[in-house]
Amino acid sequence: MSERIAIYPGSFDPVTSGHLDIIRRSSKLFDKIIVVVMTNHKKQGLYTFSVDERVDLIRRCTKDLSNVSVDSYMGLLADYAKAKNAVAVVKGLRAGSDFEYEFQMALINRKINPDLDTMFLTSDHQFVYLSSSVVKELGHYNVDLSDFLPEQIIPDFQTRINKIRQGGNP
Ligand code: PNS
Repeated sequence: MSERIAIYPGSFDPVTSGHLDIIRRSSKLFDKIIVVVMTNHKKQGLYTFSVDERVDLIRRCTKDLSNVSVDSYMGLLADYAKAKNAVAVVKGLRAGSDFEYEFQMALINRKINPDLDTMFLTSDHQFVYLSSSVVKELGHYNVDLSDFLPEQIIPDFQTRINKIRQGGNP
């Protein structure tokens, strides 16, 4: 039987402990997970980290997961999934408020690529409130981030936020 590959797409600006939890759990369900940094056009121009930096941050947190790889792609998710022979897109659902948007995206992606299903994993209860935006906001106030971000990336994240706070270029 061929490998069952799933894609986990997102902005990951930066990857949070909630994202990492979804990566770990989905890596047990599929033969291979490709975490792919993509562009959300609603956030374009607002990203704190470049695409390459976001890929690097995710790679540093997923080193121990042998069936997880990290990539970036600037086109349509449905096309990327086809090129990679992926059978599913994995998404995390935190609360009901995520559902409407994710439901729409799942239907659009399947319209473009009829072989592509979206599988939703419910967020672990400790990460329900967590988002990259909330972590960035907290970073400005020197809050301990160890419950929110993978420990490997906290120093680099905080350095970047401090630079922004001091008015420097990111
Ligand atoms: O973490 P985000 O910002 O919620 O991720 C959203 C993302 C990047 C997965 C979504 O915007 C996306 O799939 N972008 C790629 C372009 C695409 O395929 N759009 C869906 C059809 S409109």
